[in-house]
Amino acid sequence: MDLGLRDKLVLVTGGAKGIGAATVEAFSAEDCRVVLVDRDTETGTSLEKSLGSRVSYIKADLTNLEACKKAIEQTVSLFGGLDVLVNNAGFNDGLGLETPPEDFMISVQNNLLHVYAMTHYALPQLRKGPGCLVNLGSKVSETGQGHTSAYAAAKGAISALTREWAVALAPDKIRVNCVIPAECLTDQYEQFFQSQAKPEAAKKAIADIVPFEKRLTTPEEIAQTIVFLASDRSSHTTGQLVFVDGGYTHFDRAVGHDHNKW
Ligand SMILES: NC(=O)c1ccc[n+]([C@@H]2O[C@H](COP(=O)([O-])OP(=O)(O)OC[C@H]3O[C@@H](n4cnc5c(N)ncnc54)[C@H](O)[C@@H]3O)[C@@H](O)[C@H]2O)c1
Repeated sequence: MDLGLRDKLVLVTGGAKGIGAATVEAFSAEDCRVVLVDRDTETGTSLEKSLGSRVSYIKADLTNLEACKKAIEQTVSLFGGLDVLVNNAGFNDGLGLETPPEDFMISVQNNLLHVYAMTHYALPQLRKGPGCLVNLGSKVSETGQGHTSAYAAAKGAISALTREWAVALAPDKIRVNCVIPAECLTDQYEQFFQSQAKPEAAKKAIADIVPFEKRLTTPEEIAQTIVFLASDRSSHTTGQLVFVDGGYTHFDRAVGHDHNKW
C-alpha cells in the first residue's frame, strides 16, 4: 500500500537502535528523507551508511536542552523543513521508591523534557506542513511495573501530553498520537535475555504473558504503526494512545486459561 509519504521530511529521536532504528528504516522504505538523532555515534553512523544518502545521522544527547534545539536547527538546515517528528528516545532505568527525590526528578526530566523540547522547537516547521507528531509511551504508565517510578511518571506524562497537544494543535491540522509498546524484542532486550542463566526460558516466560500469539512484538510491528499514524491514511486519527502489544495491556487476564480445569 502506498502511504503517500514520499519525500516527507522525518526526524526520529533515538533512531540508532531498537524501535527507533526500525522506524527510520520503515520511513526510508516509504521514500522519506529521514534524520535520526541519537547519542550513540557508532550505531547511528552505521545505520546512516547502510540506508543511503536520504538518511542522515545527527549526534545529540537529548538530556541536554541546547542539543535538542541544535538537532532541530540542523535538521531544518539539511531538509529546509520538517513534516514528521517521532519522539521515540526513552530508557527504563528502573528507579523505584527507594530512589532519593532528587534522582527521581533527574530521571523524569531525562525521559520527558526532550519530548517537550523537541516538539516545542519543531513546532514552527510542523505548522507549515501541516505536520504530524508521534510519541512513544509505555504500558508501564497503564499497568505499573513495581520498581520504576520515574519512568512510569515520564511515560504517563507523555500519554497526557499526547492528548493535550492533539487538542492544542488541532486548529493547525497537526495530528498527535502515541504508540504504546509492552514487550518488544529489541537487540537490547535480546541481550538482557542472553545475560540470564536460562535465556530461552526467560524469553518464554515473558512471551507466555502476551495474550496474542504468546510472543514478543517485533520492532518492525511498532514501526509500521508509527509510519501509518504519520501518513494521511490515518487522516482523522488524533489524540490516540495506540497499543501495539499483542493485547498485553487490555486483554482479560483469563484469556488462555482453561476454565474447565477450575
Ligand atoms: N522495547 C520495549 O519493550 C519497550 C516497551 C515499552 C516502551 N518502549 C519505549 O519505546 C521507545 C524505544 O525503546 P527501545 O526498546 O527501542 O529502546 P533501545 O534502548 O533499544 O533504543 C533506544 C535508542 O534511543 C537512544 N537514546 C535514549 N535516550 C537518549 C537520549 N537522551 N539522547 C539521545 N539518544 C537517546 C539510545 O542511544 C538508543 O539508540 C522508548 O521510548 C521506550 O521507552 C519500549
